[in-house]
Amino acid sequence: MNGKRILLIVGGGIAAMKVPQLIRLLRAEGAAVTPVLTQAGAQFTTAMTLSVLAGEAAHDSLWDIEAEAEIGHIQLSRNADLVVVVPATADLLAKMAHGIADDLASTLLLATDKRVLVAPAMNVRMWHHPATQRNLRTLRDDGILFVGPEDGDMACGEYGTGRMSEPEAILRAIREALAPQPLKLLPEAQIRPGTLSGRHVIVTSGPTHEPIDPVRYIANRSSGAQGAAIAAALRDMGARVSFVTGPAEVSPPDGVDVIRVQTAGQMHEAVEAALPADAAVMAAAVADWRVTNSSATKMKKDGSGRPPSLEMTENPDILAWISQPGDRRPRLVVGFAAETNDVVAHATDKRLRKGCDWIVANDVSEGTGIMGGTENAVTVITEDGPEEWPRMAKDAVARKLAQKIGEALG
Ligand code: CTP
Repeated sequence: MNGKRILLIVGGGIAAMKVPQLIRLLRAEGAAVTPVLTQAGAQFTTAMTLSVLAGEAAHDSLWDIEAEAEIGHIQLSRNADLVVVVPATADLLAKMAHGIADDLASTLLLATDKRVLVAPAMNVRMWHHPATQRNLRTLRDDGILFVGPEDGDMACGEYGTGRMSEPEAILRAIREALAPQPLKLLPEAQIRPGTLSGRHVIVTSGPTHEPIDPVRYIANRSSGAQGAAIAAALRDMGARVSFVTGPAEVSPPDGVDVIRVQTAGQMHEAVEAALPADAAVMAAAVADWRVTNSSATKMKKDGSGRPPSLEMTENPDILAWISQPGDRRPRLVVGFAAETNDVVAHATDKRLRKGCDWIVANDVSEGTGIMGGTENAVTVITEDGPEEWPRMAKDAVARKLAQKIGEALG
């Protein structure tokens, strides 16, 4: 679990007493834990206990976190790899099922786009109540993951289903939830027939965000427009498209399998999980570096007037990785090169360095209006040399490229 970040939401129940042990186990496996307590949760364990064990601040108020950092709650749920609710009380499950967001915990649960694992704990009658059972069905349909509850003696003196699973069992469920997930693919019937029928193409797109702290990140100006247009053009030709996108301005097209990521590391994992493929088009503007001393809490000015120093390390080069010869390599790998001078020379060199088949090079120097704009002027470099295409709309570049890919795959 090294480097994985768990947002741990602690509900109000006697089982909250098991949370410190769970935090110890998670930290021992290298995970970072951000605790969030509901008001009821704070009756059973304290923010102080949880922050000492987690090694970072425990949050309990929506208003504090908003004051702290404009978009605090959104950022908290974005930074997590997994959200875990422990114990998940009948009340919290009901709020989740109905989308109620009236405190920090429920707001985070509504704002997150990450997987959510719940460890229910409640009295046996509450568990079997039709209202709870109805909510459980809704939550399962929503894709919420469950661990437990178990049968056993309850704190209230009764016996039955409703005991929260032990920390070791919750840890195992967390490990499973963090494992790379098989892609949820579009039904075959939704893929239209065309020249690329039966072909699978991976397209990366958009920028990546490399976190500095929960509210700041390093990014670039890529809008994701060219990548989205390429994915749509390939889809129109009948390909199944795995569209791996960073946080782009442009929405992913319909009719493709969308995998959303934030960082270069996640993009790399997602591309690996999407293989095998017949072709890969790496249109993303991947950050070359990530911050190694990123902070789990918002960095504060220390009054000295000196800015913090960021330590950085190079990100994996996904294009170079996928281009390496071997069984995994798609038959056709297309890279992009955003250059500001000597476009053809640099891009020709990049094609050889990265080992891809083609490089689509564009001039992104100031004044061209290409990065973030609607048009593109590209030179496609293949083993036969450079091929200059006239300036045209990004959609038209995408269609011409998809056509060329169709011809290459035969
Ligand atoms: N790319 C990638 N993974 C990275 C960096 C880049 O897959 N970590 C891909 C991009 O999607 C693009 C191509 O590599 O297809 C070119 O990216 P670019 O950033 O221009 O190349 P660099 O190797 O960073 O070269 P330089 O910074 O010297 O321009």
